[in-house]
Amino acid sequence: MSRSGFFLTFEGADGSGKSTQARRLAETLTAQGRDVVLTREPGGSAGAEEIRKLLVEGAPARWSPETEILLFTAARRDHLERTILPALQRGAIVISDRFADSTRVYQGAARADLRKTVDQLHTLMISQEPDLTLVFDIDADVGLQRGLARNSGEDRFEDLGADFQYKLRAGYKALLDDFPDRCVAIDGNAALDQVAADVLSAIETHLP
Ligand code: TYD
Repeated sequence: MSRSGFFLTFEGADGSGKSTQARRLAETLTAQGRDVVLTREPGGSAGAEEIRKLLVEGAPARWSPETEILLFTAARRDHLERTILPALQRGAIVISDRFADSTRVYQGAARADLRKTVDQLHTLMISQEPDLTLVFDIDADVGLQRGLARNSGEDRFEDLGADFQYKLRAGYKALLDDFPDRCVAIDGNAALDQVAADVLSAIETHLP
């Protein structure tokens, strides 16, 4: 599949500040006159947003890790077909708040030890990687507090507790080692404006 645009993803634990920074970056690049599509997972297309509701609401034990992998992958396939690939084909910059790395870390390492299953399904159904991935790192307790303080009704994953947040952090650290060519760490503990500046300098050299 040829794609002329640029595919950028934001990753990190819940409350790491990545969503705020993704929005800010999209505004900055749009103001520069670039064609930018800001999107998110789970969701990012009409069908995937429907699947999102099944995933983020309800009790933590609602789905087994295996079922979760299937639901996230179904949502991702729709997101890819309807939103991401059409935008990349017309040459846009696609900024996605989470993508396949979230499944690698959440279902593959933190929620369960199912990385092999995640990788197999990814190869079969998705088979696309971002051009660049910014991995937001933040102190696990701070992230948990920020996530719960939002009280969004979408707390199914935050409800899994502090131990889960520590595993997530370790999972994201391992991801940086797995994909050193496309993954860049961002310190999410810094002040908002500083993080935004770090994001800009991280992408500058990569953008077409
Ligand atoms: P998100 O909306 O990004 O939550 P937040 O804004 O709090 O970061 O994602 C919802 C939850 O789904 C989040 O806890 C991470 C989880 N998730 C997975 O477990 N696997 C996945 O593949 C994706 C995309 C998200």
